Amino acid sequence: MKFAILNGSPKGAESVTMQYILYIKKKHPEHEYNIINIAQTIKKIENDEKRFEDIILQIKESDGVMWGFPLYVMLVCSQYKRFIELIFERNAEAAFENKYTFVLSTSIHFYDHTAQNYMHSICDDLKMKYVGNYPADSWDLLYPKRRARWLLFVEDFINHVENKYPTSKHYTPLKMRDFKYTPGKELDDSNKIDTDGKKILVLSDETNENTNLGKMIKRFKDSFSSEIEIININDIDIKGGCISCLQCGYDHKCSYLGKDGFIEFWENVVMTSDILVFAGVIKDRYLSSRWKMVQDRAFYMTHTPTLIGKQMGYIISGPFNQIPNIAQTFQAHVEIQDSNFVDTISDEFGTSEDIDALLHDFARRLVTYSNVNYIKPITFLGEGGKKMFRDDIYGRNRFVFLADHEYYEKHGFYDTFPQNDERAKKLNEKLIPLMRIDRVRNKINMKQEFLRPFIKVIEDSNK
Ligand SMILES: Cc1cc2nc3c(=O)[nH]c(=O)nc-3n(C[C@H](O)[C@H](O)[C@H](O)COP(=O)(O)O)c2cc1C
Repeated sequence: MKFAILNGSPKGAESVTMQYILYIKKKHPEHEYNIINIAQTIKKIENDEKRFEDIILQIKESDGVMWGFPLYVMLVCSQYKRFIELIFERNAEAAFENKYTFVLSTSIHFYDHTAQNYMHSICDDLKMKYVGNYPADSWDLLYPKRRARWLLFVEDFINHVENKYPTSKHYTPLKMRDFKYTPGKELDDSNKIDTDGKKILVLSDETNENTNLGKMIKRFKDSFSSEIEIININDIDIKGGCISCLQCGYDHKCSYLGKDGFIEFWENVVMTSDILVFAGVIKDRYLSSRWKMVQDRAFYMTHTPTLIGKQMGYIISGPFNQIPNIAQTFQAHVEIQDSNFVDTISDEFGTSEDIDALLHDFARRLVTYSNVNYIKPITFLGEGGKKMFRDDIYGRNRFVFLADHEYYEKHGFYDTFPQNDERAKKLNEKLIPLMRIDRVRNKINMKQEFLRPFIKVIEDSNK
């Protein structure tokens, strides 16, 4: 059989992910494997129609399609995302229809589920026969048991193709709302919100005031009594997407430094703001590949937070609420930065008046929370993510990300790891020997024990 492999790593043949494919090729040489370096050659694919058509033809002529990519900031990299956009823009969906497919990702498992969810929904949108996903850890191939597991997965896939087994669909097509947002009369000065000297920045991939998003941003801007900054991310000087050279791991210095204006922009404009609003139009099942490029390029600070203590939120045009996957990535992005996720305002629900009111209140909340430095507790999305980073930087990836390790040491990221919590240590030392005595354990009322320190707080008039 003939398989088309769509390589989503900007490293091309030097990709870890592609070693998983080469392993299958070694074990099953009876099939033909056609690896196409999508992410690495995206500029050529985009600019040379013939190259794009050639790839589409290879997909058409294959018995199955294997999507293989590294995780890049909770999703696929911007270059791969651009290819997906091109499929829809150039009406090439038919080549994918009814093709058996699976999705392989390699990563440290940080938000691999959101990347996998994204790709699954794309496969369903393309009407492919999605057999399953394989969210590998980058190092899986180095362990015999895990190699065997990977082989089983692919053999099951091949079985599906050979026997034409049925596959299920999980995502219904997105419903686009036919809605034109028309903002109301501009507020008079007495109803405008004072920025209280806060630096407010909106980054958007669409600022044209004839579009819903452009109008929403203008309305948001007009909520304030003084100027706020609005930047179209298409105007930033970015030469290209992250190429994963990982030079930044050692000292947080990007290899693009001096070659384009991204780092200067990030450090002088984005990092210095108090309130950050990201705005965008939904493109397929995420934001645009341009937005993804910005997110990927900001990875030069690797796993070190750069947007600490800010109020952050989103203004979105498109079917945002039909894609809960995006909401998760938005919130996680903010939570792992130790910033406050305020809200996402979209044009998906309500009348123009409702949206006016929501935007105005969004502006009010951003400034109010900023004034009192309110950062709400983070959820599993941020807590789980931060713990994964901590473990990985402390352990197997320390030599790659030395700059993170130094930052983590200096800023107490390891204080609770490996379990240096003095309070917990003392409790365990005292209570574990007692818990091992049946007579004592059976007498203890665990509910009351848990409550004891809380009752002290409630009863203490000074607290
Ligand atoms: C810009 C960038 C962003 C990344 N983002 C993530 C991520 O969100 N989650 C994760 O688990 N790994 C992330 N990684 C790690 C890669 O996914 C992982 O090292 C992968 O195995 C590399 O595969 P490749 O050699 O095929 O490119 C990121 C790496 C880079 C360079």
